[in-house]
Amino acid sequence: MMSSGATGSALLRRLGPRLLSASSAVPTEHYWAPRGLPTRRHASTTSPEEKKEEEGAVTAGENKGVVSYWGIGSSKLVRDDGTEWRWSCFKPWDAYKANVEIDLKKHHVAKTFQDKLAFWTVKVLRVPTDLFPKRKYGYRCMMLETIAAVPGMVGGMVLHLRSLRRFEHSGGWIRALLEEAENERMHLMTLMEVFKPRWYERALVLVVQGVFFNVYFLGYLISPKFAHRVVGYLEEEAVHSYTLFLDAIDAGLVEDVPAPAIAIDYWRLPPNATLRDALVVIRADEAHHRDVNHYASDIQYQGQQLREVPAPLDYH
Ligand SMILES: [Fe+2]
Ligand SMILES: [Fe+2]
Repeated sequence: MMSSGATGSALLRRLGPRLLSASSAVPTEHYWAPRGLPTRRHASTTSPEEKKEEEGAVTAGENKGVVSYWGIGSSKLVRDDGTEWRWSCFKPWDAYKANVEIDLKKHHVAKTFQDKLAFWTVKVLRVPTDLFPKRKYGYRCMMLETIAAVPGMVGGMVLHLRSLRRFEHSGGWIRALLEEAENERMHLMTLMEVFKPRWYERALVLVVQGVFFNVYFLGYLISPKFAHRVVGYLEEEAVHSYTLFLDAIDAGLVEDVPAPAIAIDYWRLPPNATLRDALVVIRADEAHHRDVNHYASDIQYQGQQLREVPAPLDYH
């Protein structure tokens, strides 16, 4: 049997160079940085011009691997046409074709006091956003997306923690709500490519997010039934807002520029897609969120817990 002293020195021989020095006799590049680790950074926020600059810079430092103990490299991914997948923020299997056949006019008729309160809360919240002139609809939608991505994350987080505390399954609702949050965030990542946020818009988001996150979090703890109903009505308004936005494009008030690259890959749009095409699929997403959230509220109205009814998964 090996003595403890011998074991210690064997361990030191093996681990010493790793723990004590990066410039040890161990061939660092092979040992730490696996071959094939992507050296390119494809931020979703870069414009085509910035991308060219970035790609130039990357060529200069092509062989720089990320130093990591992990030792697992990402495999190279390709699009359907065989070209290299450019995004690190989402993968080809996250991309999808939106269901643009979805009923855009669907409306949940508020009958109970709570539902009427949810409906009118949203109607009142909408008033300040209507102050945006039609030419500025892009900015309005971009700002609203910074809010729209909050409820799914809050609901998903609350259900996640509840699942841990109670040792119980979620029925898929954690994933469904987090998927909604991610999908809304991709709406924002798309719109900000076209409508660059200015400093005062960023400042406004800072304040509004601080307030809205906390209010919605408390609201979700008190009554998830009410919270989901509010989001259902918010999504009805989102569908309406995107319809007005599309009308503004059709009327020539907003220029129909080429769709951002991120939108083309995320929604599997044709290469020549325009902003209008991107808005059509975003609007379909909003209609889907509307249905999911009204459904989540209905489940609880009927006296059931969300976890008891399977969540609508795998659309996004
Ligand atoms: Fe959205
Ligand atoms: Fe939405």
